[in-house]
Amino acid sequence: MQNLYIQLFSIHGLVRGTNVEMGRNADTGGQVKYVLELARALGEREEVRKVDLFTRLIREKTFSTAYSRPIEKLSNKTRIIRIQCGGGKYIRKELLWPHLDEYIDRVLKFIKDENDIPDIIHGHYADAGYVGKELATLLGAPLVFTGHSLGRIKKQRLLEDGLKEEEIEKQYHIEQRIHAEEEILGMADKIIASTHQEVEEQYAFYESSPSTDFQVIPPGIDLSRFFPFFDETFTDIEAVEERDNIKQAQFYMQKELERFLSNPEKPFILALSRPDRNKNITGLISAYGMDKELQAISNLAVFAGIRKDITNKDENERQVLTELLLLMDKYDLYGKLAIPKRHDFEYEVPELYRMAARSQGVFVNPSFNENFGLTLIEAAASGLPIVATDDGGPQDIIHNCQNGILVDVTNHEAIASALKKILINAELWKEYSQNGVQYARSHYSWQTHCRQYLDQAQNLPLQIQAEEQPPDRGTVGKRLTKLKKLFITDIDDTLIGNDEALNELLRLIEDNRDRIGFGVATGRDIDSVIEVIEAYNLSHPDIIISSVGTEIYYGPKLLPDKGWRTHISARWDRSGIKTILDGLKFLSPQEERAQRKYKLSYYIENPEENLAHIHYLLTRNRLRYNIIYSGGRFLDILPYKASKGKAVRYLHYKWNVPLSNILVSGDSGNDEEMLRGELLGVVVGNYSPELDQLRGQRHIYFAKKTHAAGILEGFKQYAFDSEN
Ligand code: GLC
Ligand code: MG
Repeated sequence: MQNLYIQLFSIHGLVRGTNVEMGRNADTGGQVKYVLELARALGEREEVRKVDLFTRLIREKTFSTAYSRPIEKLSNKTRIIRIQCGGGKYIRKELLWPHLDEYIDRVLKFIKDENDIPDIIHGHYADAGYVGKELATLLGAPLVFTGHSLGRIKKQRLLEDGLKEEEIEKQYHIEQRIHAEEEILGMADKIIASTHQEVEEQYAFYESSPSTDFQVIPPGIDLSRFFPFFDETFTDIEAVEERDNIKQAQFYMQKELERFLSNPEKPFILALSRPDRNKNITGLISAYGMDKELQAISNLAVFAGIRKDITNKDENERQVLTELLLLMDKYDLYGKLAIPKRHDFEYEVPELYRMAARSQGVFVNPSFNENFGLTLIEAAASGLPIVATDDGGPQDIIHNCQNGILVDVTNHEAIASALKKILINAELWKEYSQNGVQYARSHYSWQTHCRQYLDQAQNLPLQIQAEEQPPDRGTVGKRLTKLKKLFITDIDDTLIGNDEALNELLRLIEDNRDRIGFGVATGRDIDSVIEVIEAYNLSHPDIIISSVGTEIYYGPKLLPDKGWRTHISARWDRSGIKTILDGLKFLSPQEERAQRKYKLSYYIENPEENLAHIHYLLTRNRLRYNIIYSGGRFLDILPYKASKGKAVRYLHYKWNVPLSNILVSGDSGNDEEMLRGELLGVVVGNYSPELDQLRGQRHIYFAKKTHAAGILEGFKQYAFDSEN
């Protein structure tokens, strides 16, 4: 296995290659770090040709311009690709859902521009998992997924916290997330989890879980940053500047601790986490506050994120931080408890672990639940023994590293006595410290992770020799990203009606299939399109635009274009329109199958007089709509953003085919919009009178012959099947 192109997706939060703003907001934390390090490490493997980490482009004053750069190079083979969706403003992850289909469209465009199809698509978290799933379906690439955390577990926890179902939904849009996760699990070729507990107790809550292929591969840590405390020579570090940064970090952190502590030379207990209720910082402070002996032998340093003014924090964080201050006062921990307001992650955090280790201290993670526990491994690698919650990730870590004690974190005495056990026993301290340094390196390096990752990749349905594959393998998206031209035609009275000419046209399409895509655009609903395809033996179209442009499908598997659906749904009040029109005498509803979610269809009498009245009624009621009148009697009401013409333009944008490379043919009013403009329009000889007004327009050719013979004439006129 060689030459892999891997696309990683991690959409939310603030992602950049240097000075990651960890903890700046709730979406910029462990996952961001994980994907950046994974991207870099994969890019170092020789089996890998290219790694792109896709995230969201953010262009907003209060954020660094780094987040608005479309491409950031991380190394020779690795890049961050930023794609905009839902505008330029920062959007928290729970509110990204309505914009993800736009994201997908723009990624497709990017892929087409680069002319490079990924071999593996790897989504991180439900949002990017959704994007990955859609792209993998379109491109026929295997899908890998890493949840990082899961909606069902989160919901359950919030319910336990006493939140009501409606509140949870309103704030977190959790049902959409859970639904997406189910679908992702149902389709992913591989799920990469960090711990066994994640698989057994978290993914297990999902219905699609039993049929899913899980692989536990713990993440690595950046060992060049988390080197052991005794390594005074900084073995891995050559640059002088780097050493200076580390020394400076040490100086600042020391000063910071001295601000709080009366006896800063004592061993200190270090805790490091966001001020989230689940992290149970207050439990730790109570444990320390209630134990005089523990206070006598050690200090406690709690780094709970970055804060300027607690009153400006969101409610959850504000509560935790306030409680923390109250506990400090209650147990009178002045001079013993340090609660610094800031720290950076680049140099100060790694240095903090080493400082704690040099003081013969302990790292503690008192979280109620810990999915993974990255900080525990960082502490281990630095040579700092740990005390951690008896849950999930920590269980695996202590099993692998033999460097500390698991405790029931709801029990204050248990926390205190585990800490004391290590602090008092120098032999035990040393054993834990050495084990951590050694085993963190063998179990939790990104090199180890990538080796296992690429081993797993071998079992994926990779399609590296894509060129040699037949087009119809569910990889219609891949095909579309390669096509230079599109031919899109109406069906009734345009494509069909003259069998002999139709067969000639179909042969022409077949002969040019590697360059020219074939699509139909029709008023028929999708089922009746399928009937025509079968009845006339049409080679399966790449694209079907059905129900007068309100639905788009791809390939023989009829993959729906969800981006289009989302796009046209804007301000569509179907029942509002129906109520007004159903009462009109000159309209009679078409049969049931003609009525679609985004299409209301009638037969109209005396259109010349009555169309204006319909406009009047709908406009007066402030309804948004698009009216399509055709064939002398058909009337379709569509969302204002929908029509066959708009659908064709959307395809031009999405698949990045220039308008002047799209040939469109039609015969009646519902074809009018798609014939206009820069596209190459062909009106067949047997057209309906409503198209007469197009005569004389640029780029519209009125053929003399009828039906498919007229289309063939148009092909000739534009030399459409020529090689350029
Ligand atoms: C097709 C559809 C019909 C629509 C007409 C014109 O005949 O079945 O519902 O009104 O096209 O667009
Ligand atoms: Mg027609």
